Amino acid sequence: MQTLAGKKILLGISGGIAAYKCAELTRRLIERGAEVRVVMTNAAKEFITPLTMQAVSGHPVSDSIFDPAAEASMGHIELAKWADLVLLAPATADLIARMAAGMGNDLLTTLVLATDSPIAASPAMNQQMYSNVATQENIATLARRNMQIWGPAAGEQACGDVGPGRMLEPMQLVEKCEAYFQPKLLAGKSILITAGPTREAIDPVRYISNHSSGKMGYALAEAAAQYGANVTIISGPVSLGTPNSVNRINIDSAQEMHEQVMSLAEKHDVFIGCAAVADYRPANIAENKIKKTDDKNDMSIEMVKNPDIIGSVAALKSNRPFTVGFAAETQDVEKYAKSKLTKKNLDMICANDVSIEGQGFNSNDNALTLYWHGGEQRLPLHSKKELAKSIMQNIHEKLTSSKSE
Ligand code: PMT
Repeated sequence: MQTLAGKKILLGISGGIAAYKCAELTRRLIERGAEVRVVMTNAAKEFITPLTMQAVSGHPVSDSIFDPAAEASMGHIELAKWADLVLLAPATADLIARMAAGMGNDLLTTLVLATDSPIAASPAMNQQMYSNVATQENIATLARRNMQIWGPAAGEQACGDVGPGRMLEPMQLVEKCEAYFQPKLLAGKSILITAGPTREAIDPVRYISNHSSGKMGYALAEAAAQYGANVTIISGPVSLGTPNSVNRINIDSAQEMHEQVMSLAEKHDVFIGCAAVADYRPANIAENKIKKTDDKNDMSIEMVKNPDIIGSVAALKSNRPFTVGFAAETQDVEKYAKSKLTKKNLDMICANDVSIEGQGFNSNDNALTLYWHGGEQRLPLHSKKELAKSIMQNIHEKLTSSKSE
């Protein structure tokens, strides 16, 4: 998808080992429609050649402020004005320090001073250098001046150390650029999302749960945040990182989820119930681990109904948010989804057939049909991240059309 169509990205490369990833980064940006111009510091040229970067970007690389030929084509001030985004990757400790000090002692730092375009830096250096108080203060200074700081990641480093200081991977940087340019359709809106499974305790070591991984709910939270919304996710136990700029509240059981949702729902414009909430929980939680007995081959657990979380939100009498549910079905998907839409008094429901391999629970992809009163939209098999964007666009349309009615 041409998610960066027409965007002009000035890629500033400084001298770190991660510079070798810039060829891949450039290719992925161009693939998505961006135009990329490259500026390199002298140290960067020790790690990747200007010829490589010229070949992948399709433009000559700029590396000197005193190059009459380069100045005759696109001078450094023109270059500074040309960019929609200046992306500094890798941004070494030295480049960060020079920028924090306001220096302009090479082409790259001069461009940084001369541009009024947004700037993003992706730090990359040895973990000790990254943790050094001087580097931390320099990064804080740049962030205070509104420079975006993307990363670093933590892990094994080229020098053998382990810790924070790895440049984000090319695709992570591409996603950051996409998110940065995403139209802020939901700016000013607050969105509350539930995600993942609930765990209903049987005794101190056992519980009843389901296969929800949280991927669908977290994709919704990420998309909403990228569209500029203020997002809170109430999450069952999952092994996913919290998306950027999203507030996260962890819970275990349906009752805990219900309590958190009801304390926040009225303060939000939109509520999305994507969690796979257990409909029932054990009536009693044994205080100690239930022991196996020799005399009985069966055991039964008495279950009681959990509160219907989304039903309680939709029933709010004041400040009721626009309420979106999910329906996880294995048969008669449309019939059951439409019935939940009506019975639970929802504004929209996203129905998925969770009996089909490769979609639904614990997969990266899904296929959904959105139903609302008087309409529907099919969203064929796609990544959960892409589907989440379509759902957010749909919610945005509903919010704006209800306002203009
Ligand atoms: O997490 P993943 O692995 O990415 O999988 C995604 C998913 C399959 C979990 C997701 O796409 C999905 O379908 N979520 C809803 C699962 C579900 O519980 O569906 P349901 O048809 O049983 O419930 C209908 C709606 O009522 C849902 O919005 C649910 O959150 C809500 N509900 C259900 C029971 C309850 N006690 N309270 C509720 O609020």
